[in-house]
Amino acid sequence: VNTPFCRRLGLAHPVVQAPMAGVAGGALAAAVSAAGGLGMLGVRGSEGTTWLREQAELAAAGGPFGVGLQLWKLASSEGLLEEVLDTGPALVSLSFGDPAPYAAIVRDRAVVLASQVQSVEAARQALAAGVDVLVAQGTEAGGHTGSVATLPLLQEVLPLGEEAGVSVLAAGGIGSGRGVAGVLAMGAEAAWVGTRFAATQEATGTAGAKARIVDAASTDTVLTHVFDLVQEADWPDRFPGRALRNELTDRWHGREDELAARLTEVQRRFRDALDRDDRDVAHVYAGQASGLVQGVPAAAEVLRELVDVARDRLRAVGELTR
Ligand SMILES: Cc1cc2nc3c(=O)[nH]c(=O)nc-3n(C[C@H](O)[C@H](O)[C@H](O)COP(=O)(O)O)c2cc1C
Repeated sequence: VNTPFCRRLGLAHPVVQAPMAGVAGGALAAAVSAAGGLGMLGVRGSEGTTWLREQAELAAAGGPFGVGLQLWKLASSEGLLEEVLDTGPALVSLSFGDPAPYAAIVRDRAVVLASQVQSVEAARQALAAGVDVLVAQGTEAGGHTGSVATLPLLQEVLPLGEEAGVSVLAAGGIGSGRGVAGVLAMGAEAAWVGTRFAATQEATGTAGAKARIVDAASTDTVLTHVFDLVQEADWPDRFPGRALRNELTDRWHGREDELAARLTEVQRRFRDALDRDDRDVAHVYAGQASGLVQGVPAAAEVLRELVDVARDRLRAVGELTR
């Protein structure tokens, strides 16, 4: 299965392992890239230059790699984008905000510029900034996201991409080969898969977090500001985070004002839970595709399954029109 996006990046398969801060480091990216997909590093900005260089070096050993940055953080992270570009990524993703102030810096280095968008307005803004790749990110996605589901969003964004001559990728809720085939059949040029790769050997999430994703059903997530409040992360209000429900969200989701009033006490409990990898209280960012996760295999095994099943499904789809 080959698409223009694959040819542009030199990929054997139309699958991108999504950038996931705290979860997607060099080992995961290298495993996915070596297996023919595009591996990506998730960068928050607080990890430091040494970490970034080390992880990029690990990733590069697998082949071309990408880096995902959070746009709203860039203004307060002077020099971060340049540091990222110096590590030699094939693609940089600038998500959660307007990429316009940074687009020229990326494109001047001949690096492919992608942006995850959660609405038609955000897609138009990213196109106006001159992105090469639009990633339609549905609300099913793990981590921070918007409110429109992948299926309607992708149907809205695909024609915009077509008109502008820009590749469109799909993110959010894709956790099986059937899902990959579905978005490719719609016209997306690759699937951008996070949650499924968060539960792999190479992901840097904790054992407790991975076990929770395996145990979770697709109904076990919540789109919430609770973990950002507790961690004092200044995510813009329009991007809540999709995480697995737990004691902390059951208690505080919808009661954020009360939480703010008792923040110090809750933070103490949260930090203690993090230390013990107690995911009844600490966070596990993961999407509705958690219901599709059965175990914690090597990332290459996940990629192989996604691609093999997608190929079979697409052949079957071809038969429908004969
Ligand atoms: C644990 C986790 C952390 C994430 N961190 C980031 C991030 O730092 N930057 C980013 O652009 N997207 C981030 N995302 C979103 C992913 O890039 C992607 O949109 C999402 O995982 C796709 O949906 P899926 O989880 O259903 O596959 C994160 C997702 C998860 C699950």
